[in-house]
Amino acid sequence: MTLKGKRILLGLTGGIAAYKSAELARSLVRAGCDVRAVLTEAATHFVGVATLQALTGQTAWSDLWDPRVADNMAHIELSRDRDLIVVAPASADFIAKAAHGLADDLLTTLVLARRCPLLVAPAMNVEMWDNPATQRNLLALRDDGVAIAGPVAGDQACGETGMGRMLEPAGILAEIEAFFQPKSLAGKRVLVTAGPTEEPIDPVRVITNASSGKMGFAVARAAREAGAEVTLISGPVALATPAGLARVDVRTAQEMFDAVKAAAGTSDIFVSVAAVSDYRVANRVAQKIKKRAGEGPRLELVENPDILAWVAKQRAAPFCVGFAAESEKLGEHAREKRARKGIPLLAANLAQEAIGSDDNAITLFDDNGEHPLGRGPKIELARKLVAHVAALMAARQRRR
Ligand code: C5P
Repeated sequence: MTLKGKRILLGLTGGIAAYKSAELARSLVRAGCDVRAVLTEAATHFVGVATLQALTGQTAWSDLWDPRVADNMAHIELSRDRDLIVVAPASADFIAKAAHGLADDLLTTLVLARRCPLLVAPAMNVEMWDNPATQRNLLALRDDGVAIAGPVAGDQACGETGMGRMLEPAGILAEIEAFFQPKSLAGKRVLVTAGPTEEPIDPVRVITNASSGKMGFAVARAAREAGAEVTLISGPVALATPAGLARVDVRTAQEMFDAVKAAAGTSDIFVSVAAVSDYRVANRVAQKIKKRAGEGPRLELVENPDILAWVAKQRAAPFCVGFAAESEKLGEHAREKRARKGIPLLAANLAQEAIGSDDNAITLFDDNGEHPLGRGPKIELARKLVAHVAALMAARQRRR
């Protein structure tokens, strides 16, 4: 677990989204973090100190002048042993104070006196969010190196709709995990394909591959966590876009090929995770084929372009990573596929273990041989894959 042992100071400010931060506190504790909560006075109107205390298993604080701290140094001591301060929800008022170095309560004083990094998850009414003062303050925080998670657009507790909803606890947790990842791909542009493609037979029927897109989305997320600028080209899947990346939706292999061609030239790395249909239907028809007893339609199939092989062949091709889902003889097929596609790295998994599941088991094949990454959640395997790619690219650069 990437968050195991991390010491977090969780700050809550006055906003209705504070109730979600109780869930966040619980998730952080479950992930193995040591969580110390600090609430502003306004936050205590939305969620109790006792709630945070029970969830974190330690004293939660809200008073700058708490007499339990003998030397009155709570504003410094409470953050000294922390790896990160997370403020969720971060109100417009808190953001304004933090941007200007104001410190008139325990949380803002801790933030001003901190040595550790700060991540804020804004939550506020849409008009407050859109107000130029708030936008200026956010820019100032960003310039100061503060990480900003969310917000998102949607229904708001006040009854209005728009930008300003706090990220859900799982989304904030993902941002905290991302924060702690090594930035091994900083400055790199990464292109990822994910999911299946669909090849129409008629207006309602398709040829496709079984693929949930989960592995490709995990790779895109891991690359972005590692500091890369990521474009994710996705076939039809039912997955939310991980934060901070550009997504292009496609349907057919040809559409995926066109989207890849448009982006490959400006990419440093191409990770082809998509389960591209090898064939498309040449005799596709415009109207739905009617079922006739005892007689099946005949499909004429033509081969689709091999997207990965095409990219790998280009002059000044990006660093190419292929995926292979095999049902047997993993090593043998993987080595043959890597050679045939002319790519430096291939990630192989067993189809029966990989498809649709949240977990996977991957072995990497490169010029140095075979590297088992073990078994685990797809996001953890994707992070290991990204670390391997970064190491290979660094070695390449040293040889130049
Ligand atoms: O050729 P095969 O499907 O066995 O190899 C799988 C790898 O090739 C994957 O990385 C997949 O994304 C890529 N591929 C492709 N274009 C195709 C078929 C597969 O890019 N038409």
